[in-house]
Amino acid sequence: MPFTYICAMIGKDLQYAKEQLVAGELVAIPTETVYGLAANALSSAAATKIFAAKNRPSFDPLIVHTNSWQRVSQWVQEIPDTAHRLAAQFMPGPLTLLLPKNDSIPDIVTAGLPQVGIRLPSHPMTQSLLAMLEFPVAAPSANPFGYISPTRAQHVEDQLGDKVSYILDGGACQVGVESTILAFENHQVIVLRKGGTPVEAIEAVIGPVVIKAHSSSNPQAPGMLKSHYAPKVPFLLGDLKKLVTQHRGKKIGILAFSDGLEDGSIAFQEILSPQGLLAEAAQGLFAAMRQLDQMDLDVIIAEFVPEEGLGRAINDRLRRAAAH
Ligand code: TXA
Ligand code: MG
Repeated sequence: MPFTYICAMIGKDLQYAKEQLVAGELVAIPTETVYGLAANALSSAAATKIFAAKNRPSFDPLIVHTNSWQRVSQWVQEIPDTAHRLAAQFMPGPLTLLLPKNDSIPDIVTAGLPQVGIRLPSHPMTQSLLAMLEFPVAAPSANPFGYISPTRAQHVEDQLGDKVSYILDGGACQVGVESTILAFENHQVIVLRKGGTPVEAIEAVIGPVVIKAHSSSNPQAPGMLKSHYAPKVPFLLGDLKKLVTQHRGKKIGILAFSDGLEDGSIAFQEILSPQGLLAEAAQGLFAAMRQLDQMDLDVIIAEFVPEEGLGRAINDRLRRAAAH
């Protein structure tokens, strides 16, 4: 039915999504963090399509997704005890663990690195899809390289609609920022990216971790590249009032945490959480950034949120947007 196929570019058909993935095609999938651009992780030909669709450099490795922790041992060499404890506590959920890969994972997936990022997304629709598949899927965020991650099916359609076979619509992402990425080195746990699982929650389970999430020169995780998640409009970060005064006369958009500004010179204002809730702010962050980026503004002015819990991931994304 070619006609329905064209109209069903976005839909909830798990069987169709499965068929496309089995055929080596790209399918956008909802996760609790952001939408992913998925392909068979055991096929280099399929994984290659991801890099082409995103215009992503081949040195930037992909995270591999599956539905159950039991399956992971098929694709990695050994699993440290700490990883088992973290998995028991936080998976499925917004956490990625770097583990030594075995030969089943093609080198292109890990960009030649010996470790593979493993993640178990908790979104029910994607859980079902992954359970239907005999292979795991490699999936970066479903945005063109360097742009803001998508948290709605429509965001994917807007930017990559002509490059994917199907977009599985799972609604708005509940967490809204990408997974926290952890590596295991010399009996230490290293945070390579702050994300949807707060560092405080991780430390409560396994004790102190080392945070290395800010590198601009030699990115071990290129998601660590400073300029990432960047809107096209100049994005400034700091004290809202001061910055608005400095930019008076321009068409200004505001990205505020809980309180907006009463100022006639502001063209558009996004308030992330009027109640001051970090989870709500994270959930709406990328959609708000996209919205502002489409308003034909001269400048976007944003402020930090409290540096705790999910706020640390939010501030990290704001800093990267501003680093552009
Ligand atoms: O929440 C998420 O993690 C989302 C959803 C779709 O699962 N995925 C995501 O993927 O954010 P991506 O590719 O946009 O960001 C993953 C980051 C990349 O910047 C990559 O450098 C890092 O994870 N990464 C992946 N595998 C790695 C590896 N083997 N070694 C070091 N860094 C790795
Ligand atoms: Mg990304």
